Amino acid sequence: MTSAEIRNKFLTFFEGKGHHIVPSSPIVLKDDPTLLFTNAGMNQFKDYFLGNKPAPYKRVVDTQKCLRVSGKHNDLEEVGVDTYHHTMFEMLGNWSFGDYFKKEAISWSWELLTEEYGIDKDRLYATVFEGDAKENIPASTIALGIWKELLPADHIVFGNKKDNFWEMGDTGPCGPCSEIHVDCRSDEERAAVPGQLLVNKDHPQVIEIWNNVFIQYNRLKDGTLQPLAATHVDTGMGLERLVRVLQGKSSNYDTDIFSGSIQTTELISGKKYTAGDSKPDVAFRVLADHIRAIAFTIADGQLPSNTGAGYVIRRILRRAVRYYYTYLDVKEPMLHQLLPGLAEQFKEVFPELQAQLGFIA
Ligand code: GLY
Repeated sequence: MTSAEIRNKFLTFFEGKGHHIVPSSPIVLKDDPTLLFTNAGMNQFKDYFLGNKPAPYKRVVDTQKCLRVSGKHNDLEEVGVDTYHHTMFEMLGNWSFGDYFKKEAISWSWELLTEEYGIDKDRLYATVFEGDAKENIPASTIALGIWKELLPADHIVFGNKKDNFWEMGDTGPCGPCSEIHVDCRSDEERAAVPGQLLVNKDHPQVIEIWNNVFIQYNRLKDGTLQPLAATHVDTGMGLERLVRVLQGKSSNYDTDIFSGSIQTTELISGKKYTAGDSKPDVAFRVLADHIRAIAFTIADGQLPSNTGAGYVIRRILRRAVRYYYTYLDVKEPMLHQLLPGLAEQFKEVFPELQAQLGFIA
């Protein structure tokens, strides 16, 4: 399946479960003082979770442009060095606003991954929140019970507040979460070390792909957790990681999401990408990643500048330039040459790149 088909399957699967397909909100946030950029699919739905506004639909599904390079969720230094962190990424999400809860969310995620996408059940692991006595939050026994019907006990892992209690920032809607991880190692490696021991241990082939968050609280400014009047579902699946798993690759950069930019960089630099750990290979990955963050944020109205959100984009731009100048020996501006391919790739789902190509360049 191509990345476009994989994205489409997610949207239509949940449409078939009564969800309304909605567009991504802009990656640049102008009306939320707690965030500079959209860092999760749930940002645009914050007011529905908090009960500040009624949701127009009880169930929605989307792919959201996200950026994680500032604030609570910040992956910048990993990007390009490893094969699965990104600045800009697409988060596929299904949402329930006071409608279905844990049972449906978990069962549908299992159905989609195993029956529609055909991922081998034996390679999947689920994490469950173990509870937190200090904050008086109970363990997720309901989620545990649902997973026990789907997975053997040695494919379920308990996690602490860091891994299994999701918060968008210092304040706001939050709740316990249950992640799904995939073990992409070879059969020999899997036989030698059980995947259960490698979940959430930064193993490059045992990776989280989907987070099912059960929004039950609002984190207040003074740090206390206030239970919400209604409970909600907020899920996030990184498209780039999912595509890597389904296309059978060991790196996100070997998928059709990034291969176009890597090939264009090869043409410009006259160097070959060998998918290794050398500085030139890191540079290929940095460029393939950073061009997306730069292009999508500019398209959504955030120009690079010397303060605030603009400074975040300038830092990404500088990091990209530093990498191609130093490690690919390209001494002329080149990022603009990656844009036409990117705009073509995303023309169906994010036409804003094509529409503003000249301006972004
Ligand atoms: N809101 C769920 C996540 O970003 O993982």
